[in-house]
Amino acid sequence: MKSTHFFYFLILFFAVFSEPTMAGNKEPLAVKREHLSMDNDWRFALGHAYDPSKDFYNGTGGFSYLAKTGYGDGAASPEFDDRGWRKINLPHDWAVEQPFSPKGTLSHGSKAIGRNFPEASVGWYRKTFVVPAADLGKHISIAFDGVFRNSIVWINGHYLGTEPSGYNSFEYDISEYLNYGGNNVIAVRADVTIEEGWFYEGAGIYRHVWLNKTDQLHIATNGTFVTSQVKNNTADVTATANIVNADKETRSFSITQTIVDADGKTLATNKVTGLTLKPFSSQDVKSILTVNDPRLWSIETPYLHRLVTTVEENGTVTDRYATAFGIRTIRFDANEGFFLNGKHVKIKGTNNHQDHAGVGAALPDALQEFRIRTLKSMGCNAYRCSHNPPTPELLDACDRLGMLVIDENRLMGVASTELNDVKRMILRDRNHPSIISWSIGNEEWGIEGNITGARIAATMQAFAKSIDSSRYITAAISGGIGNGISTVIDVLGYNYVATKNTDEQHKKYPNQFSWGTEEGSTVASRGIYEDDMGKQQLVAYDRKQNDFFYSLEQGWKHYAARPYLAGMFIWSGFDYRGEPTPFGWPSVVSYFGMVDACGFPKDDYYYLKSWWTDQTVVHLLPHWNWQGKEGQEIRVCAYSNCDEVELLLNKKSLGKKTMEPNGHLEWQVKYQPGTLEAIGYKKGVRVGQDVVKTTLLPTQVKLLADRQVIKADGRDITVITVQATDKNKLNVPTAENEIGFSINGPGKIIGVGNGNQTSLEPDQYVEQINLVNISNLKEKFVEELNVKTEVAADYDDTGWQAAFKDTRDDEFGRKVKAIVYRAGFTMPADFATATTTFFSKNIGKLQSIYINGKEIGHEIKESDGKQEFKLDASLLHPGTNTIAIVATPLLKANIWASVNTDPGLIQLVYPPAPYKRKLFNGYAQVIVQSTGQPGTIILKAGSPGLKESVVEISTK
Ligand code: GAL
Repeated sequence: MKSTHFFYFLILFFAVFSEPTMAGNKEPLAVKREHLSMDNDWRFALGHAYDPSKDFYNGTGGFSYLAKTGYGDGAASPEFDDRGWRKINLPHDWAVEQPFSPKGTLSHGSKAIGRNFPEASVGWYRKTFVVPAADLGKHISIAFDGVFRNSIVWINGHYLGTEPSGYNSFEYDISEYLNYGGNNVIAVRADVTIEEGWFYEGAGIYRHVWLNKTDQLHIATNGTFVTSQVKNNTADVTATANIVNADKETRSFSITQTIVDADGKTLATNKVTGLTLKPFSSQDVKSILTVNDPRLWSIETPYLHRLVTTVEENGTVTDRYATAFGIRTIRFDANEGFFLNGKHVKIKGTNNHQDHAGVGAALPDALQEFRIRTLKSMGCNAYRCSHNPPTPELLDACDRLGMLVIDENRLMGVASTELNDVKRMILRDRNHPSIISWSIGNEEWGIEGNITGARIAATMQAFAKSIDSSRYITAAISGGIGNGISTVIDVLGYNYVATKNTDEQHKKYPNQFSWGTEEGSTVASRGIYEDDMGKQQLVAYDRKQNDFFYSLEQGWKHYAARPYLAGMFIWSGFDYRGEPTPFGWPSVVSYFGMVDACGFPKDDYYYLKSWWTDQTVVHLLPHWNWQGKEGQEIRVCAYSNCDEVELLLNKKSLGKKTMEPNGHLEWQVKYQPGTLEAIGYKKGVRVGQDVVKTTLLPTQVKLLADRQVIKADGRDITVITVQATDKNKLNVPTAENEIGFSINGPGKIIGVGNGNQTSLEPDQYVEQINLVNISNLKEKFVEELNVKTEVAADYDDTGWQAAFKDTRDDEFGRKVKAIVYRAGFTMPADFATATTTFFSKNIGKLQSIYINGKEIGHEIKESDGKQEFKLDASLLHPGTNTIAIVATPLLKANIWASVNTDPGLIQLVYPPAPYKRKLFNGYAQVIVQSTGQPGTIILKAGSPGLKESVVEISTK
């Protein structure tokens, strides 16, 4: 089974094994573990960073203190009316939906969120879900892979906890808070006012959420740990499982550990019997299993095994848990670098943040895979998760595709918070064979060169090893080499060698392992070959940024020439939002990537591909559209791993040059339109070529889907490249046309991008929701429900009293037969372009509702519950409109009870504008996601003056 199949198998495994009975399976056992996605059907709205009236009144209600359980109020309350909120699925990043603003934080991509935008910096999420009555007695928890940031979670109004970091995964036991056999409401408040990193970080529940159901006797979350020792033709696999008894009784059980290969064949099994756990205790159970002739996990063949851990009690399976793992060995050598399975591997790595064009930080899983494939195609074999633990699906993709990983902790420190974060990272991620190193920190300028740094690093390193001794510990250091952290760390991570003497350090610490955790930091715009400081565009020719950094070529040559350096990680693989060094506004994306924020290669990609892969590479730059520069010299470069490259202009040779290892070739060529051609020779034989041609103006849009068949699961995606071609079908490398998109069938566009660091075009077009509150109700007591004058649109209610002044007690009930409530509400000038809905709530036992004098609801009973009225535009007008509700009074059941005084709210939904994006130097990207049904997605792309293009995607 291929590794991709293994992934589907895992899903299937969980699907099958989460069924209460396994029909057709030999084993007549009840397996209770369920791992259910909680990604769909959330409601979302922006709250407010400090104004409770705009933050859904959370924390303002009677006894809504943290010291009163179940009193979560406002939007945290299960009773809160969220019908007006937007419907969304996870993962979701509200930052990417916001416009850009110079008042946003430059380092975060200048989105209109953060300190200057209190109205866009708090996001609320609510989800209602049913828990079957049969689940009573199970251990049920809700697990968040990551929420940016400072999340507060409530279940059914009960406060569960606060997680400050946007990069930690966390889980809450909700077993005792649930309504079994009924509705449950989870509410999450995230606040991005304060930032964690100096790069785009997204906002909201940007990773998956899960509902985990198990027996009270179960395997702990992240409770398995698999390591292996390979000797000759066998592997000794040590499988440890942490078993938890969350029950109120002592439980006796056995544990079976089984290793299964990618085809589902059992390779080894071991059973430990006679185990006992007292209530609220846990235990590690260790088994050593031998696998003969193991298939090893490697970069080229990332073969995954599976450990199946089964907990049995009196012949009944109480839990079964699958752990994907790989059998492989890793070793650093202070003189020779890094070895995987005993074979030397030079680390050819990239640093990456977690965002992508169009979708921000909320990446569908398939996009993780797309990004790792893109990096692999350049020859990249290692990925540093700078500067925080990633989403688990990124690591899954690295496991499946064969990409080594440095998993990085967010903040150095030895207070319990920091050490606990390190612990959580390691426990969560330790079974990924891709991970070869834990990084305890990055560029901690305040401590890296001093004794405090040395102490902290030594403690963190020892702590990390106490949890996992099978990985190497590194720290990325920018200065103070020879002092501080560099004196204690196992694998010294150099950030930028231009300012450091690695040879000297190696001489001084001959037993220390080392690599370049950051190198490069070159800045370039894809497809630009003349600096344009006004437009904030920088050439894509490789060059050093300033004296603190090397060019890419200088950097790689340094590492390639020194075997004691295990390799290097380029800063960065992908461009990312924020940190648009050396520019400020309106640049919003970094310039550091080898590929742009969409994944379109810059020329640097080909430099690395030449020296990082065995494939024959011949790549020419720049493009050959220099109309107006006829006769002027143009700098032409070739990136190639051939021995010699010959350059020809319009078939005339401009000479053959010999390539220096890890180098590149250059010519100055007098511009003449036509064809520029590079021919590569190895040992005198022509082995490859690249051709760039002068193009004409674009005449047609071209679409190319990275995958033509995707899963009809509502999650899978295809990444579509948009280009423009001329009448000779040549891609026009300078095209800047704005392309409009339309989509039909079971798919939707979830984001667009083009790699232009200065583009302020929207990434997403989402529906806009305006909620119009009905407040300041006035009231007048009347004799009956059926009144006419008081409900009229133009009735003068100036003399009426504020509603609900009088306590709604029995006395009031005896006195007052009916009440007319009136209020004005304001409709915006453009309301007719929106769909308007009134979500009513009962403020009477029986109530009739009038909008501008017209009855829309007649004698609605309290028992009928909340109602929903679509309001036709003809009923409304811009400016002040009137609502009148005639009701028989609602009365308090007892003195401390309250009655509903909220009549409901009016929701305006503005449909999203159609998707569009400009090409940037010939490219744009559209990400299309399945909406869940099988069929054919048809994406059309057009632009004024250009012939339309259509691409069809099947969803299966
Ligand atoms: C490093 C830092 C990275 C990034 C890079 C840009 O100092 O670790 O996160 O900011 O510089 O050159």
